[in-house]
Amino acid sequence: MTEQDTIRTYYERDHDRLDELFTTFQRLKRSDFARAKEAFKEFKVGLQRHIVWEEDLLFPLWKEKTGMSEGGPTFVMRAEHRQIGALLEAIHQKVAEGDPESDREEQQLLALLGAHNMKEERVLYPSIDHVTTEDERTLVYRQMQDIPEDRYRTCCGTHSH
Ligand SMILES: [Fe+2]
Ligand SMILES: [Fe+2]
Repeated sequence: MTEQDTIRTYYERDHDRLDELFTTFQRLKRSDFARAKEAFKEFKVGLQRHIVWEEDLLFPLWKEKTGMSEGGPTFVMRAEHRQIGALLEAIHQKVAEGDPESDREEQQLLALLGAHNMKEERVLYPSIDHVTTEDERTLVYRQMQDIPEDRYRTCCGTHSH
C-alpha cells in the first residue's frame, strides 16, 4: 500500500487483482488446465483473505464508528460473502476433480461478485474512509498483515487433492 491509500483504493485494487486471476482461470481452463488451476488457487486464497480482512477488520471498525450492524450494509455484505463462498466451493470441487465444466457456477459467481464489489466500492468503502482517520486506517493495514495465513489458505494445493 502507498502513503495515500484509502480503504477504497486499496480494496478496489484487490478486487481488480482477483478479477484478473479469475479471468485467467476461465481463459486457460480448456487449453492449459495446470496453469488455470494455479490461477484458480491464487484467486480462491486471495478472495478468502479479502473476505477475512473485511469481516475481521473493516466491518467491526465500521460498526464501532457508526453503531450500525444488524440491518446495516455490513449485515448484507456478510450474507453475500456466504453465497460467494458456496459458489467458490462448487467451482473448487470441479477444479479439484480436473473438470472444466463449471461455466454455470462461474457465471453465477461473477454476477454475484460484480454486484457485491460495486456496492462496496461505491458505498461502503467511501463511507469507511469518511468515518476513519488516517491513523486508524494505517492500523487496519498493519492488522491485515498480522492475520495468520491458515485463516484463508485452504485450496486444492494445501489438502490432499
Ligand atoms: Fe466483500
Ligand atoms: Fe471486497
